[in-house]
Amino acid sequence: MPAEPIGVLGAGWVGLATAAGFADLGHRVTVRDVVPERVTALSAGEVPIHEPGLAELLERHRERLRFTLELDEALESAGIVFVCVGTPSTYSGDADLSAVWQVIDELAGCEERLVLVMKSTVPVGAGERVRRRLDDRGLENVGYVSNPEFLAEGTALANFRNPDRVVVGSFAEADGDRVEALYAPLGSPILRTDVASAEMIKLASNAALATRISFINEIANVCELVGADIEEVARGVGLDRRVGPHFLRAGIGYGGSCFPKDASALKQLAANSGYHFQLLASVIEVNELQKRRVVQKLRGQLGSLRGKTVALLGLSFKPHTNDMRESPSLVLAPRLLAEGAIVRAWDPVAGEEARQLLIGVEVAATLLEAVEGADAALIVTEWPELRKLPCSDVRDAMRTPLIVDGRNLLDPAAVRAAGFAYEAIGRPSAVVARLDEAGLRS
Ligand SMILES: NC(=O)c1ccc[n+]([C@@H]2O[C@H](COP(=O)([O-])OP(=O)(O)OC[C@H]3O[C@@H](n4cnc5c(N)ncnc54)[C@H](O)[C@@H]3O)[C@@H](O)[C@H]2O)c1
Repeated sequence: MPAEPIGVLGAGWVGLATAAGFADLGHRVTVRDVVPERVTALSAGEVPIHEPGLAELLERHRERLRFTLELDEALESAGIVFVCVGTPSTYSGDADLSAVWQVIDELAGCEERLVLVMKSTVPVGAGERVRRRLDDRGLENVGYVSNPEFLAEGTALANFRNPDRVVVGSFAEADGDRVEALYAPLGSPILRTDVASAEMIKLASNAALATRISFINEIANVCELVGADIEEVARGVGLDRRVGPHFLRAGIGYGGSCFPKDASALKQLAANSGYHFQLLASVIEVNELQKRRVVQKLRGQLGSLRGKTVALLGLSFKPHTNDMRESPSLVLAPRLLAEGAIVRAWDPVAGEEARQLLIGVEVAATLLEAVEGADAALIVTEWPELRKLPCSDVRDAMRTPLIVDGRNLLDPAAVRAAGFAYEAIGRPSAVVARLDEAGLRS
């Protein structure tokens, strides 16, 4: 397919990965955002988010990319425009579509047919409502296609290049054909559907992944009570081809800009339609409780946390991103402060974001600074850097050498051999190393 000019609305994770990906396929891409500092930074070659390989790819295709505050510039000569604006949760748990409506209301008439492609995650029925609004405004020449995004932060570019599937839901066949043609060079399966089904595929996919995480976390919690080891159990369960190994890692629970809000949006969508989505309600509740379980583990080892120093290690919601949205660290920090603990925190890339979000927490510049004089080190996010945590420098720096591993990142035997007490998620008491029993209490 010949290169064609593309517009992208929203310069966040999805917008920038989409823009870089299509530029890499040879297209000219104009990205519009409404935040002036973001547009200025991007125009100057600075990338405001941490996503591996993104800065390099944007730089490589600089001559094909343009960043602007003006909608007209993004639409100029572009036949296809991707909507990648944020759709966060409202207080009611529904998705906030105000940025989507802002885009729709700003659109002016066009002579050539323009296809608006919704990549933002929206509730089922949103496309139908957008279609009606476009028609009411006399914009019949603007087509609408739902093309939900499935990328994961940290692997966004690889996900763009090699998606498991591309979903294209359209009202008009020809509009869907144009979007399908754009993705054809990737050689991935392309699923054509109606708009409502495309919207539901996105919500159901995230709900399925969240369900697997809460499922394995509950199995882990039972493992702790009955003496089984979740790491062995998950491996054994995942080897069953009917189950598969993905998203069976027990830990502190899911976070991020997608799972929590999309699970909530689907639960709310069902409720608004008269259905109580009991399973999803439990998945969400299990996840909330899971974040807090490590606090009980700290109490079990240290007694009262009043006046104790806890090092919170890894603050972004997952490794390889500086995205703090719905990160478990945002719940754990205030929870520990409420217990009277002194909280020191560290993250290899999200320190700046954390300083603004974690009120009352000292964000350390280095890992060693964070654990200095600490009574416990709590692994919240499985950054590879934290594999080196059980070393003599850290043990000597801590007041009490205790590691609570919220992600089952470390090898328990190695941690014990390095002179630490250790607790993880879903591991049997044989794996847990108690401060008292090991004679490590200060
Ligand atoms: N982040 C992910 O991993 C991911 C994965 C799949 C799907 N999604 C979905 O994609 C959408 C975008 O997510 P994100 O993480 O990239 O969001 P984000 O918050 O990082 O970026 C959204 C951007 O849109 C801009 N914006 C707001 N109103 C605008 C307008 N009228 N015109 C142009 N730009 C506007 C914002 O300033 C912001 O820079 C959401 O619906 C999200 O649920 C996200």
